[in-house]
Amino acid sequence: MAEQSKFKQEPHKLLVIPGPIEVSDDVLFANAHPSMSHISPDFISVFGDSIRMLREVLFTKTGQPFLVAGSGTLGWDMVASNLVEPGEHALVLHSGYFGDSLAECLKVYGAKPVQLKAQIGAAPTPDELENALKGSKFKIVTVTHVDTSTGVLSDIKSIAEVVRRVSPETLVIVDGVCSVASEEIRMDDWGIDVVLTAPQKGLGTPPGLSILCASERAIQTFTTRTAPPTSYYASWVNWLPIMKAYEQGTAAYFATPPVNLIYAFNASLTEITKGKVSLEERFRLHREASKRIKQAVTDLGLKQLVLDPAFAANGMTAVWLPEGVSVPNLLSAFAKKDVVIAGGLLKDFKTKYFRIGHMGISVVDSSRGDVDKIIDALGQSFREAGAAK
Ligand SMILES: Cc1ncc(COP(=O)(O)O)c(C=O)c1O
Repeated sequence: MAEQSKFKQEPHKLLVIPGPIEVSDDVLFANAHPSMSHISPDFISVFGDSIRMLREVLFTKTGQPFLVAGSGTLGWDMVASNLVEPGEHALVLHSGYFGDSLAECLKVYGAKPVQLKAQIGAAPTPDELENALKGSKFKIVTVTHVDTSTGVLSDIKSIAEVVRRVSPETLVIVDGVCSVASEEIRMDDWGIDVVLTAPQKGLGTPPGLSILCASERAIQTFTTRTAPPTSYYASWVNWLPIMKAYEQGTAAYFATPPVNLIYAFNASLTEITKGKVSLEERFRLHREASKRIKQAVTDLGLKQLVLDPAFAANGMTAVWLPEGVSVPNLLSAFAKKDVVIAGGLLKDFKTKYFRIGHMGISVVDSSRGDVDKIIDALGQSFREAGAAK
């Protein structure tokens, strides 16, 4: 890992969209590591340590991590091409935009996805899931832990419990792109088979990696497939030996890993697992910051997309715009205060709401004052954007 440096990034607007997020100086400096051979002993140990630290973040002893150049989306392709065989059924729990796209991805590989949809701002309930599982046989159930389009937090512990009880052979796949390291995930205790994610949100690293962890049961499902995986780059036939080799400290090659990004990811994982703030404390700080920002939203008379506060993400907030305030006006009002937020993402409602991300160092390092800055900018910008009508 890079040594603590004097490196300071240039002054810039505070990036508080729901990913990519602000990245620490140490993580950015680690990304500036001199170019290294991907099979050099120094790099092999950085890769191996990253695999081990990822297990800590996900509370798993037996999960098999995969770190592959790509993005969060590649995790969907890995699931679709390694764990589902053409013609098999998948149940996609839909709480926003990312359920639709994951279902599309599954279809490309010949799977037969069925979506269980909830109204905007909600997630399918455990009872609805139980009924669906009793009606048909599914190879996998997928759930978006936090749907970044709505800010809905799904109760993955209860979902996994229902699947394990009603359909024990069905794999539970969690899209944790917008939740890993900002929401608690206990892979082993909760019986989750796959967590797939990306570095640019709660994990506080620049984008460019597909990060996935598969349970022993998922690996068993993969190794006992009848048909070969339906992808080349995403195939675990190619990646599993590489991950095992790096962890065991030996060199292996299938496709060149993003060497510098792995240095950066390692630096961030080190902050997360060995820094001053424990994982539990990290989750608590996300809950606290989220509460403050959501309260500020309520105080302005605004409504969130999430219908029940118990199912609101702790790393982001999605808010309906009232009449007379447009997304471009609000975003430019925020930008004038050096704060970057995001517009909507849901296909039919893009222009009707905005989103704020509050993950990673912006909430964990209170000395930055980012949460106060967001809340101040919210109040001021909102009044200005309203007045600008
Ligand atoms: C919940 C969720 N899943 C999947 C993705 C896709 O990740 P990526 O954009 O890194 O491919 C995103 C991206 O924001 C996301 O928020």
